[in-house]
Amino acid sequence: MKTIGYAIVGTGYFGAELGRIMKEEEGARIVAVLDPENGETIAKELGCDCETDLDALCAREDVDAVLVAAPNYLHKEPVLAAARHKKHAFCEKPIALRYEDCDEMVRACQENGVVFMAGHVMNFFRGVRHAKQLINEGKIGKVLYVHSARNGWEEPQPSISWKKIRAKSGGHLYHHIHEVDCIQFLMGHATRVTMTGGNVAHRGDNFGDEDDMLFMLMEFGNNTYAVVEYGSAFHYPEHYVLIQGTEGYIRLDMCNVGMTVKTMDGKEEHYLLHETKEEDDERTHIYHSTEMDGAIQYGKPGKKPPLWLHGIMKNEMKFFNGIMHGDPIPEEFRPLLTGEAARAVIATADAATLSLGENRKVDVSEITHKEA
Ligand SMILES: NC(=O)c1ccc[n+]([C@@H]2O[C@H](COP(=O)([O-])OP(=O)(O)OC[C@H]3O[C@@H](n4cnc5c(N)ncnc54)[C@H](O)[C@@H]3O)[C@@H](O)[C@H]2O)c1
Repeated sequence: MKTIGYAIVGTGYFGAELGRIMKEEEGARIVAVLDPENGETIAKELGCDCETDLDALCAREDVDAVLVAAPNYLHKEPVLAAARHKKHAFCEKPIALRYEDCDEMVRACQENGVVFMAGHVMNFFRGVRHAKQLINEGKIGKVLYVHSARNGWEEPQPSISWKKIRAKSGGHLYHHIHEVDCIQFLMGHATRVTMTGGNVAHRGDNFGDEDDMLFMLMEFGNNTYAVVEYGSAFHYPEHYVLIQGTEGYIRLDMCNVGMTVKTMDGKEEHYLLHETKEEDDERTHIYHSTEMDGAIQYGKPGKKPPLWLHGIMKNEMKFFNGIMHGDPIPEEFRPLLTGEAARAVIATADAATLSLGENRKVDVSEITHKEA
């Protein structure tokens, strides 16, 4: 088996763990990292080189693919550099903070004939895969409506992370784009979006400048809808995706972790959301502990992801490494591997942002400049 050489741009909380995981995959080697603050430490840990110049990193002959896990607003340059050097790219979510940037990244990868996979981890939840399979089999009939919530409460912060600054993370909607991506994975692309909300309870020196309460309505143009809630101004923590069909429902619960399916015969079935009961229970425990509040948890350099997250990161890296070794691309994952699914969620998020700013319904085609 050929060994694929990986480089990592950004080795903080997530990038370092992607490296630790990829290093253990068959036929995979981490050859270099680039991170102005944490590169040296992680290079030592992973036993690889530490580069300081992006072009030099991407030009290396032993680099076949670049994993990008820098802060959200710094994803574009590394992906463009990888494409320019004909290296495949895996980029953390959100791939960028504006549709135009995503479009440039997708096109650059297409023109250079390289894979551009987005780190939309919900696609690798056992529960999401299972829900998609049940929906395809007609278990809950036609999907009419999805409601997702990712809500918690945030206390004053001793220092303000880039994750809380709108221009750097995109705020809750962009930084936690997972749910919108999951909904579009299940229901197709939204055609019209309306959003309301604002910063209702987190102003001042101990907070960033993101909106802490957002409500987005997605319309799909065929009498199907979704409502997405996000924020850090909710004392009652909620984190779920509830899928309502004509013949039943599926609830993916990330707070009291598990998956529930109910159909017309009145039977309620329960399944795992993650790979093992231990992972599901650990995540439930985290949500109900006092260390954090609801869906408002953030990693930082040096911290290790919890078991459940490690599990899906492993699924995701195994999948990407398989594609690098020539595994066939499953049809439903094709848009994930071209950046098109990731570009489509940012189009939806940009339409929502415009809706909030101009207080009106916005057609997503206004953002993509394509006919609806
Ligand atoms: N899929 C998920 O569930 C998930 C979870 C956490 C983070 N993420 C994503 O991973 C990315 C990184 O997040 P994180 O939690 O690791 O943040 P982090 O702050 O822990 O790490 C970011 C790292 O990037 C480095 N960096 C800053 N500027 C850089 C540059 N120009 N080039 C290279 N590196 C640079 C920083 O020094 C830091 O080490 C983000 O895009 C985030 O959205 C995804």
